Amino acid sequence: ASNHDKVLRMVMFGKPGSGKGTLSSRLVKKYDILALSTGDLLRQHIAERTAVGQQAEQIVAQGGLLPDDVMLEVVTNKLDALHNKHWILDGFPRTLGQGKLLDTHLEKQDAPLTLVINLDIADEVILSRISDRWVHLPSGRVYNMSYNRPKVAGFDDETGEPLTKRPDDNPEIFSRRLKQFYASTAPLLSHYASGHEPTRLVTLQGETSDEIWPKLEAIVRSTFPTLRERAPRRG
Ligand code: AP5
Repeated sequence: ASNHDKVLRMVMFGKPGSGKGTLSSRLVKKYDILALSTGDLLRQHIAERTAVGQQAEQIVAQGGLLPDDVMLEVVTNKLDALHNKHWILDGFPRTLGQGKLLDTHLEKQDAPLTLVINLDIADEVILSRISDRWVHLPSGRVYNMSYNRPKVAGFDDETGEPLTKRPDDNPEIFSRRLKQFYASTAPLLSHYASGHEPTRLVTLQGETSDEIWPKLEAIVRSTFPTLRERAPRRG
């Protein structure tokens, strides 16, 4: 393998609520890795009422997907900023079209994907989690009242700002997001399954993060031995 294959360029793939955001932020906290979440990015656009945000608001609230060309516009310059770094994409690509656009973009940089993690979590497990989810909108930090509680109920650990519920986390919209996943996103998996070097596809199963996190960390560490841990923070 050439040297650039040692760089972590990873897609975190999975159903809505499978834990993509939670596991990505654990990796980012511990290792020298950057993460890009298109869900967080769109929620920021919506909060700031940008042109993209105004287009996204209804679609996100209804559990639909934004058009591929809009998403490419949203992520392209962000992707360029990740060049030569270790990075994770969370929530992108989400259609076969987006997957192909990403492949082309990375080919031009001679920086192909090196890892695709498929979080394979049963629908029932996910549905029970979602009602317990609270988020800190400005940072995208995710909490769960049964498994990953904030230190003070209702407030973000780092900033002390209030947590909110996502408008698309109600049961009706959530089931629409799951259907959308099966219809539009699941086909991407066979694209990655039939992919080639240096992209490695790994499926992880489990119900709790105590099961999944150690497996994920072991894969990341063994595949990218040069990855550095962040210096511990005080406090
Ligand atoms: P996005 O924000 O990406 O939503 P999503 O894919 O539906 O993913 P979620 O954020 O719901 O879940 P997650 O997998 O990150 O799980 P989490 O870690 O929070 O996108 C939102 C919308 O934007 C889309 O519906 C679409 O409209 C639009 N959009 C975004 N990207 C797009 C694109 N590329 N193209 C077109 N449209 C796009 O975990 C869930 C809960 O479970 C939490 O409460 C968490 O604490 C808990 N939990 C997590 N892991 C565990 C565990 N291991 N054990 C127990 N509990 C756990």
